[in-house]
Amino acid sequence: MDMTIRPRRLRTTANLRKMVRETRMDKSSLVYPMFVKDGVNIKEEIPTMPGQFRYSVDQIPEILTEMADAGVGNVMLFGIPEHKDAEGSGAYACDGIIQKALEKAKKEVPDLFYIGDVCMCEYTSHGHCGILKGDYVDNDLTLEKLSQIAVSQVQAGADMVAPSDMMDGHIRAIREGLDQNGFLTTPIMSYAVKYASAFYGPFRDAAGSAPAFGDRKSYQMDYHNRREGMKEALLDLEEGADILMVKPAMSYLDMVREIKDATDVPMAAYSVSGEYAMVKAGARLGYVDEAAILCEMAVCAYRAGVDIYMTYFAKEIAGYMDEGRIG
Ligand code: PBG
Repeated sequence: MDMTIRPRRLRTTANLRKMVRETRMDKSSLVYPMFVKDGVNIKEEIPTMPGQFRYSVDQIPEILTEMADAGVGNVMLFGIPEHKDAEGSGAYACDGIIQKALEKAKKEVPDLFYIGDVCMCEYTSHGHCGILKGDYVDNDLTLEKLSQIAVSQVQAGADMVAPSDMMDGHIRAIREGLDQNGFLTTPIMSYAVKYASAFYGPFRDAAGSAPAFGDRKSYQMDYHNRREGMKEALLDLEEGADILMVKPAMSYLDMVREIKDATDVPMAAYSVSGEYAMVKAGARLGYVDEAAILCEMAVCAYRAGVDIYMTYFAKEIAGYMDEGRIG
């Protein structure tokens, strides 16, 4: 048979397959998202996210140390306050839950890199990501609050802020706030390309942040849209975003690749709560192999162009990298 090119030649042994691997990953690119709530001595499992917990501030050093030991150097913190109000004031209070968590984390486990999620939905009584005017989330009124949230988080010790609100002009507003307070070198990782997604369902259970009425479609994007994602990414870059994020990850890797090719900043993707929950549920039922599935999801995200991968499976993925199963 006359066939000079035989792609299977490069797949004959494990060593060779590893040598010619196109996608290489490193633990330093993993980010672990976690939930901190008001109270003491709390470590409660999140029913829709088995294996993930809500921790009170006193309990966080243990999980942070576990991450550090596993080689996961970056953590993203979400706060669950005891009291919520229409203005989401707990989000920017200097003794707010996230601020207290950041202070504790920086003091007890100082070697990790701490990212604050900048949004209002966990803190507002109505569950929306901004300030309401009637039933509509008012963009420009919200900007001022977002800026305050970001500044308060950095004052409490955040190394980077990550706005997930999807308001127009948010990166500019936050950059100005940080700069005016002297935080010129604190980077912003923008959830620039964030779709209105049912994949956030388990997170909203975890954080008690489901909107009390309506949905988030007047600010988060319609998942039918591709070019709009590019528009959001370019706008946030223009406003000063240092890192761009696509969210969710698994069903949105086309956006990762496209934006990666069109821009020159690091690309992040957030494998969200619904992705985690589906893997856990499928594995529990014996329908899929958990380890195999989560490895594949992770590698495929990197193959699509991800530089920073945010995942509730961060520790597991780090372990599989150590074992040489992936990476
Ligand atoms: C806050 C926020 C959400 C998530 C991250 N930041 C919820 C939402 O937009 O409703 C979701 C993360 C996940 O599902 O794991 N706005």
